[in-house]
Amino acid sequence: MTKRELIARLNEAIEHEMMVYFQFFYNSLTLTGHTNLSLAEKFKEESESELGHAQKLADRVVALGGTPSASVPKFSRPKSAKDMVKAAIKNEKIAIKVYRDLLPHTKDDPVLSHLVYHLLMDEIRDLEDFENLL
Ligand SMILES: [Fe+2]
Ligand SMILES: [Fe+2]
Repeated sequence: MTKRELIARLNEAIEHEMMVYFQFFYNSLTLTGHTNLSLAEKFKEESESELGHAQKLADRVVALGGTPSASVPKFSRPKSAKDMVKAAIKNEKIAIKVYRDLLPHTKDDPVLSHLVYHLLMDEIRDLEDFENLL
C-alpha cells in the first residue's frame, strides 16, 4: 500500500470515528429519564473516547505528511435506547473491521501499527460493552 493510499484509509477511519462520535454524543443528549441516566453517561463517555480515536489518527495523518479529513459526517439518530445500542454495536463492528483490515498494511510504521492495534483493542472492548447492554 502506498503512503497516499494509507493516508486515504486513515482518513476513512477518521470519518467513521467522527460519525460515531456525533451519534454517541447526540444519543447522550436525547436520552432522558432516570432509567436512561446511566446509558446517557455511557454514550457521553464513549463519544469522548471515539473523538480521541479520531484525534490520534489525525495526528498520524499529519505525521505522514497528509491532511486529516474535515468532512462532517451524516449520522443516524436512533429513537429508542435499544435502537441506540443496536446502532452502536453495528458501528463498533465496522470499526473493528476497519482496523483489522488496516493492521497488515502498517508493518513498516511501528508507531502506526501500535496505534491501530490499540484502536482495534478499544473497539473490541466497546463492542463487548454494548453487547452486554442488549
Ligand atoms: Fe473508535
Ligand atoms: Fe468504539
